[in-house]
Amino acid sequence: MRKLLVVLMAFSMLLLLAACGGGGDAVDETAVGGDAARGERLYNQTVIGSASAPGCITCHSLEPDVVLVGPSHAGLASRAGNYVPGMSAEEFLRQSIVDPDAHVVEGFPAGVMYQNYGQDLAAPQIDDLVAFMLTLE
Ligand code: HEC
Repeated sequence: MRKLLVVLMAFSMLLLLAACGGGGDAVDETAVGGDAARGERLYNQTVIGSASAPGCITCHSLEPDVVLVGPSHAGLASRAGNYVPGMSAEEFLRQSIVDPDAHVVEGFPAGVMYQNYGQDLAAPQIDDLVAFMLTLE
C-alpha cells in the first residue's frame, strides 16, 4: 500500500512538471496572446481594417522624435506603462487603439487619431498590434 502511494505521488509530480514546463517553447514572452510579427505587418499597412482606414504608420513614425501626426512610437513599450497610473503597458496600448480619446497624449489634440479601429479590426488583429507595440523598446 505504501509503495503504491509513493508511485502515485511520483506520478502526480511528473504530471505537474509536464503541465508547468511543457508547451512554453514557441510562445513569445512579450506577445500577450498576439503575434508581434503579424502586428508589425498590420502596423506598416497604409490602409487597415474593414473600412480601409488610414494605417498606423501614416501618423506614427518609428524613428525617435519624428512627429508625423501622432507621437513617434520609438520607445513606446518602455513608456506605455507610465501614461496612466495603475494601467499596464498592455492595457494602455489596447485602450489607445479601441478608445483613442480615453487618454490623450499631452501636447497632442484629441479626436485626430482614427476612432473606429475597435469596430473595423478583428480582436486578434488588435492583439497582434498590441504585441508588436510591446516590442518597441
Ligand atoms: C490619423 C492619424 C492617426 C492614425 C492613423 C493612428 N494614430 Fe495613433 N495617435 C494619433 C494621435 C494624434 C495621437 C496622440 C493623441 C491621442 O492620444 O489620441 C495618437 C496616439 C496613439 C497612442 C498613444 C501612445 C503614444 O505615445 O502615441 C497609441 C498607442 C497609438 N496612437 C496607436 C496607434 C495604432 C496602433 C494605430 C493603427 C491601428 C494608430 N495609432 C493610428 C494619430 C493617429
